[in-house]
Amino acid sequence: MLTRDFVEDSLYNPSYGYFSKQVVIFTPGEPFEFNNMRDEVEFHKLLGQRYTEFEDKLDEKTPNETRQLWHTPTELFRPYYGEAIARYLVANYKLSQYPYHDLTIYEMGAGNGTLMLNILDYIRDAEPSVYERTKFKIIEISSNLAKLQAIQLLRGADSRGHSSKVEIINKSIFEWDQIVPSPCYFLAMEVFDNFAHDAIRYDPMTEEPLQGTVLIDSRGDFYEFYVPQIDPVASRFLRVRHAATGGRYRHPLSQSRILRKVKSSLPFTPNLSDPEYIPTRLMQFFDILGKYFPSHRLLTSDFHDLPDTIRGVHQGYFDILFPTDFGVMELMYQAITGKLTRVLSHEEFLRRWADVEETETENGENPMLNWYKNASVLTTV
Ligand SMILES: C[S@@+](CC[C@H](N)C(=O)[O-])C[C@H]1O[C@@H](n2cnc3c(N)ncnc32)[C@H](O)[C@@H]1O
Repeated sequence: MLTRDFVEDSLYNPSYGYFSKQVVIFTPGEPFEFNNMRDEVEFHKLLGQRYTEFEDKLDEKTPNETRQLWHTPTELFRPYYGEAIARYLVANYKLSQYPYHDLTIYEMGAGNGTLMLNILDYIRDAEPSVYERTKFKIIEISSNLAKLQAIQLLRGADSRGHSSKVEIINKSIFEWDQIVPSPCYFLAMEVFDNFAHDAIRYDPMTEEPLQGTVLIDSRGDFYEFYVPQIDPVASRFLRVRHAATGGRYRHPLSQSRILRKVKSSLPFTPNLSDPEYIPTRLMQFFDILGKYFPSHRLLTSDFHDLPDTIRGVHQGYFDILFPTDFGVMELMYQAITGKLTRVLSHEEFLRRWADVEETETENGENPMLNWYKNASVLTTV
């Protein structure tokens, strides 16, 4: 199978995929009181304690299970992070669609459902007239997480009163087949990194790309192969990227030809370039946005850099994630959807839209701004 099918199967196979079975997203419980903390070191310490409590509770429910916990800004900085996004949504909605259209928000991959609750709480409390006209639709691939989102929504017999506004659609975005003609906002927070990628290596002599495939033998051992036939999806990706970047994209062979020839003639040199992982699924997501959500405005946040990567893990037991090249992604999104965009760092986006005083510690540090330095935010303008 192609590398992208292998990654997709490891993450989403209904029987053993990571998102079907293993996924647990850390949630700190009660919001942190940043104003009462001395500094970021204290925040770190408190976070460590909450992690331990969270893990202990999981161990009581499902002992002896291997698990890998991770956190997202939505969870660590709840409700302030969600409120920042709500402010952005309401301000833009009021500028361009109010009062002609409802505020319709799609969230793809809603994790524990925390962002949805924080956004709706904020709109209900701060903008009651907009709240009246708000609809929130989650598109979630994982049935475990879709169930959890429904539970969150109804917790306390829906004391928050949001359930009439929310629809949870338990399917992959790649199965979407309905046209949504009216204006809507489309949120995707930390989902792109989990989209399957293809692996491409280049022949240094001919400069031709080869596509990664995985073979699993009858004993269950895995072998990685590179073949010269590029499948239509990866081949389209390479074409669209080439056109969108005006041919300026620097892939792993982008170094001087002479240097490359010298290197490749040295003994023990690998006969192919390093692999590059191309986000073929992300391109297909842009196709879906362009085709089925023609009037959408995208707001997405993800990692532009992921240090400390590891080479291989037990299939289905671990999250697999890739950093996003926002420069290239932005150009490809524009080429496919015809829309204009802006990319900001996580910090820049929050300085504009968050109530940053809420997340400031006594010594003036601000964990919500300082953490996630490796994340960027892209919005349709
Ligand atoms: C890393 S989590 C992020 C959760 C949440 N957005 C947050 O920031 O806390 C990725 C989420 O995307 C969902 N997801 C991944 N691929 C998807 C797809 N193809 N269609 C819909 N949801 C998907 C996962 O099940 C999960 O809920």
